[in-house]
Amino acid sequence: MLVNIPLKRVVDDSYDITIDTLPKLYFDTKVAIVTNPKVAGLHLGYLLSRISAKELYIITVPDGEEYKNQASVDAVLESLFNHRFNRKSMLIAFGGGVIGDMTGYIASIYQRGIDFVQIPTTLLSQVDASVGGKTGMNNSYGKNLVGAFHQPRAVYIDPSFLTTLPLREFGAGIAEIIKMAVTFNKDFFEFLENADLKNPDILQEAIKQAVQTKAWVVGQDEKEHGLRAALNYGHTFAHVIENETKYKKYLHGEAVAIGMVMANKTAIKMGLMSPEEAQRVKSLLEKYNLDTSYEIADVESFYEAFYLDKKSSDSSIKFILPRAIGGVFITDACSKEMVIEVLLGFGKQA
Ligand code: NAD
Ligand code: GLY
Repeated sequence: MLVNIPLKRVVDDSYDITIDTLPKLYFDTKVAIVTNPKVAGLHLGYLLSRISAKELYIITVPDGEEYKNQASVDAVLESLFNHRFNRKSMLIAFGGGVIGDMTGYIASIYQRGIDFVQIPTTLLSQVDASVGGKTGMNNSYGKNLVGAFHQPRAVYIDPSFLTTLPLREFGAGIAEIIKMAVTFNKDFFEFLENADLKNPDILQEAIKQAVQTKAWVVGQDEKEHGLRAALNYGHTFAHVIENETKYKKYLHGEAVAIGMVMANKTAIKMGLMSPEEAQRVKSLLEKYNLDTSYEIADVESFYEAFYLDKKSSDSSIKFILPRAIGGVFITDACSKEMVIEVLLGFGKQA
């Protein structure tokens, strides 16, 4: 006997991303703003002046990647149950990517899923983390290993939050902007080469172009069956660098900058990118004070660590390589010898 559950359906999860001064937001429901003490201290007053809700609660979790974990998730869930949140209630993620990923994840599991809105406050979260519905948390096995795809109902990107952002955090966000330009949009790359992102109008234009690029990619491949993996350009190398340096020396975007340089060297070996194009990417990263060099202590163990990457299988490693500037090539056909040769270029003796 066979019983079929007919589940074919068309779902419209489309949403708008507003890049502008935060508009007045009205909610006819219970709302919880999930944030951390740092962001709350700097910007909560402003946010509260823009929000009206049936009931409004503020839930804070400690600041830092190390708190993007089950204990914080449990604490927020506890608070939602205490305040009797229901399936019509709404969460607002107010902070950087840590708050955004974790709040989105909580929204995805609270009573099997409620709505949430992203109000990102770091450059990295404005151009990348808040867009596209990847949510999650870390555990003792690694970063972002638990999570769900759960799209926000809306994203409000107000660049004025960035005026309080430390310079290094700003640079980490720029690295992700450069990532989108190199892989998808040559005109955008050339715009960045000539831009002064300290100018607020130019920064807003760069945020818009990065978000448009990511929105387009997510629209093609929401659940990362193929193209979306291109957004991980530089990340295969970066994850090893972050791991080797115990997540202390580099911010994620800073490690991605070095990772992009490594990916570019691999792309040159594969005949996908010219040395001149790779130099242009390196110069653009350096324009924003991003490190582009790294000393690999042991190339064999660096290579072995690629197998821990979520994109790798037991027998092959997936590399996201630029195809010139403005294109991308996803491959598991890079030979170990060739990649080792690239890594040796970053070795102690190089
Ligand atoms: P973060 O959230 O830790 O923020 C960095 C620091 O800046 C924190 O101390 C934060 O409190 C502070 N901060 C936030 N806004 C501020 C402001 N306006 N002024 C001053 N300080 C401010 O880090 P992040 O770089 O925003 O995000 C990194 C996280 O995002 C990682 O957990 C990463 O896995 C995740 N991520 C997710 C995606 C995705 O698609 N879901 C993409 C990229 C990164
Ligand atoms: N930051 C990678 C992605 O959203 O897919």
